[in-house]
Amino acid sequence: MAINNWYKDKVFYQIWPRSFKDGNGDGMGDLYGVYEKLDYIKSLGCDGIWFSPLYPSPGIDCGYDISDYMNIAEEFGGMDAFKKVLDGAHERGMKVIMDLVVNHTSDQHEWFQKSRRRIEPYTDYYIWRPAKPNGKLPNNWDSLFEGKAWAWDEVRGEYYMHLFAIQQADLNMDNPLVREEVKKILRFWLDMGVDGFREDVITFISKPEGLPDDKLMPASKGIFMFNHGPHLHEYLEEFHRDVFSKYDCMTLAESPLVTPKKALEYIDENNNPVLDMFIQFETQEADSFMTDYYHMPFNLRKLKRSYTKWQEKLDGKGWNMLYIENHDHPRMVSRYGSERFQKESGKMLAVSYLFQKGTPFIYQGQEIGMTNWYPSDPEMYEDVQTRWQYFNVATKKSPEKRLKRLWDGSRDSARTPVQWSAEENAGFTTGTPWFYINENYKDINVADQEKDENSVLNFYRRAIKLRKELSSVKNGNYKEHGKMSSSFYTYSREDDREKLLIVCSFTEKTKKWSVPAGFDLASAELLLSNYDKLDGTTLKPYETRVYRWTK
Ligand code: GLC
Ligand code: CA
Repeated sequence: MAINNWYKDKVFYQIWPRSFKDGNGDGMGDLYGVYEKLDYIKSLGCDGIWFSPLYPSPGIDCGYDISDYMNIAEEFGGMDAFKKVLDGAHERGMKVIMDLVVNHTSDQHEWFQKSRRRIEPYTDYYIWRPAKPNGKLPNNWDSLFEGKAWAWDEVRGEYYMHLFAIQQADLNMDNPLVREEVKKILRFWLDMGVDGFREDVITFISKPEGLPDDKLMPASKGIFMFNHGPHLHEYLEEFHRDVFSKYDCMTLAESPLVTPKKALEYIDENNNPVLDMFIQFETQEADSFMTDYYHMPFNLRKLKRSYTKWQEKLDGKGWNMLYIENHDHPRMVSRYGSERFQKESGKMLAVSYLFQKGTPFIYQGQEIGMTNWYPSDPEMYEDVQTRWQYFNVATKKSPEKRLKRLWDGSRDSARTPVQWSAEENAGFTTGTPWFYINENYKDINVADQEKDENSVLNFYRRAIKLRKELSSVKNGNYKEHGKMSSSFYTYSREDDREKLLIVCSFTEKTKKWSVPAGFDLASAELLLSNYDKLDGTTLKPYETRVYRWTK
């Protein structure tokens, strides 16, 4: 646990290294690029960085398939570049957290290479099962990325489990030696000065005894069995007891399908917490189910129910992590906002979550309102999950419909390089970019927005600054108003010094907003809005306002 709960005052910026900034001209984002941009990140008001994996990796899942946990990939600049960035961040008062990916390793990791050859002590580091006499797989679980959850290994003559890509083999966390390895990794980075971890799909690490078949019929077989498995709490408690409790660090657990009730089993501050915060998926599901591949029209009321549920249920017990974007989900302007009103909706989306209670995270490019990417050919996609869906899953849908589905749902929509300027390759690299640049970079880029006082970028700066100044945002009471509205999200925050009223319009229409009872706008101070001129209580497309009453 972080001493003094310092993470409660921070605003984090997530870096997905490949696409952030290329510093050495080879086309791949790297830590030299990050170093150049530390002041930029700081200028947003962010004082924490979460790095998606920087470790050596074959890159099957863009770094989430790790082959060496105690090193930094050469392509990102190696350990020297990392230490420089870490020091640079600390000098600027920024914390740095790393991605801890220990549900699985790359099949190129030394442990796997030895395990498949039954070299001790690695034999039981992974989840191996012999072939069944009837030719069936060890169980009926699905991989989230590629077909079934089992791959045959010729070397060992057994199946191994992979809940993600075939080259991402699941570790056997029931083996105490594996848990010792995890602790070694944690100590290694914490001793170096890292301030905590975002723990990748950490709620998948404990598989049920005997790996029974999933008898339910979910879209993804097995997920309700291996998510929050039988020994999860015990293992997290062990990591906490043996490592985290000895450092001033924070832990953030990623967990698909987590509910506030489940989360509180781990983060309740009054009840021996073993983690600090959770990344929940519910707020991503207002236009999709479980993964983004089941795309549906955006439903504001669903989003509001989820926002309010997490605000209320965790209140006084646990701490929320707040986000709208990360590297696993398409861009929000294109989903809950509108590309036609890119500027207005980009700003409104910021306000929709930045004034809630919790620790906000901003994903690279979100601060300029980057949008989805619309390639003409499915071959242009890079993401392993997207490719499997398109090329391997049988469907009767037309190619046009299937391509549209990728546009709406692929993780690659949020993985195009950050648009730094209107110059060649959006200023991301002087070389040939490793991935496609979104064609709209001449209209949406950092350099132009720096010069424009009314840009999305400068709006983020103002919103973050306000968030830090307003006492009620940190600890005040949260209340949602007008819950039935399918156009407006209205919420208030209140403490003994002030009261805030925040409204966010999620519609392209100009519409009348009914001010909740007890809030007299005539005596309010308008702190923030995304239009120059206000028209009473009629809100323009994607309009947002933050009002304050001082007590
Ligand atoms: C997490 C990561 C995602 C990765 C997966 C497997 O969901 O955020 O990018 O592909 O885990 O490690
Ligand atoms: Ca580079």
